[in-house]
Amino acid sequence: MIVLGIETSCDETAAAVVRLEKKYDNGPLGRVLSNVILSQIDKHKPYGGVVPEIAARAHVEAIDSIVKKAMSEAGIGFDALAGVAATGGPGLIGGVMVGVMTAKALALASQIPFLGVNHLEAHALTVRLTGNSDGTSISFPYLLLLVSGGHCQLLNVKGVGCYQRFGTTIDDALGEAFDKTARMLGLGYPGGPAVERLAREGDPCRFALPRPMKGRDGCDFSFSGLKTKIRQTIESLPDGPISHLDAADICAGFQTAVGEVLADRSANAIRGFLDQHEPSSFVMAGGVAANQFIREKLEILSKEHGMCFAAPPIELCTDNGAMVAWAGLERLQIGDTDNLDFKPRPRWPLDPDAPRRAYAGVKA
Ligand code: KG4
Ligand code: ZN
Repeated sequence: MIVLGIETSCDETAAAVVRLEKKYDNGPLGRVLSNVILSQIDKHKPYGGVVPEIAARAHVEAIDSIVKKAMSEAGIGFDALAGVAATGGPGLIGGVMVGVMTAKALALASQIPFLGVNHLEAHALTVRLTGNSDGTSISFPYLLLLVSGGHCQLLNVKGVGCYQRFGTTIDDALGEAFDKTARMLGLGYPGGPAVERLAREGDPCRFALPRPMKGRDGCDFSFSGLKTKIRQTIESLPDGPISHLDAADICAGFQTAVGEVLADRSANAIRGFLDQHEPSSFVMAGGVAANQFIREKLEILSKEHGMCFAAPPIELCTDNGAMVAWAGLERLQIGDTDNLDFKPRPRWPLDPDAPRRAYAGVKA
């Protein structure tokens, strides 16, 4: 089974082809035949963040050639596809419409199913495409920490389309906190990789930074207080440009605080998960899962609780078409396809029964 996936929900125009490779008793594994990503970062850089109108126009300009490239790198024709998937939300709606319309047209022309994929579900299931580092597959249920530019959630992944939310952020998403910290330090956008790089050179203990929500019951997060403290710390520095050393110490302090908060909240979620299930996998996914420091921290935590840590390879953590193709493939496997009247959804929670948080980020 081969599926084409299209991702246009933010500032990457991406298309990929994925094949179901093996179906073991305890779960599947796939192979990425092509994975083409065109970043729009340079177009948004002058504005310090993603401008929705510019993003949508750039997707329209690029989508045809990106899909063509993904198909030719995979070495297949449209007749080899079993389905076409596109991110159907949540995300910047102008961009989502571009991907959805393209996928619908391709599905109609090829007379194959269309799948409007939830972007969060695509992040959530990517780990089943690549499996564990020893090549074994990952089965349901598993505990998921989903950390991206717009979300920070702990979820029980019970199956395709079946999620129970344990906790979420009550204010900023984690990727947003990385991006804002980077912006205050003049490190550019996206901030996550820059903060991680600089943190390696810094002293995490020099500045006293808060650990919001640490030690509290439940699995919710909050990052706005940490962001405020970073701003105050920068303001307390001598006038003039921020020195390399000061920036490195702030990045190291920020990342260490974040690591402690994630470990504390995740420990509560693991306890909740183990009340319902036998020990299984603790999975981290979404753009922030590319962070090596946080991955190591959560791997240690997983071991302490008898859980097996897993995360997608770094290049499949940030937005890409392969994760969308794979989520489409998983849905196709269970016959859960969409009609051509599918409407893009700017807001699309994974667990519709979870209480809505007033200030939680809405970007995917
Ligand atoms: O999943 P993603 O590509 O897009 C959304 O769905 O939001 O996540 C993007 C976010 C950005 O906020 C970016 O700064 C963050 O992921 N990110 C990282 C790292 N790489 C990307 N954050 C921390 N460390 C990284 N290495
Ligand atoms: Zn994403």
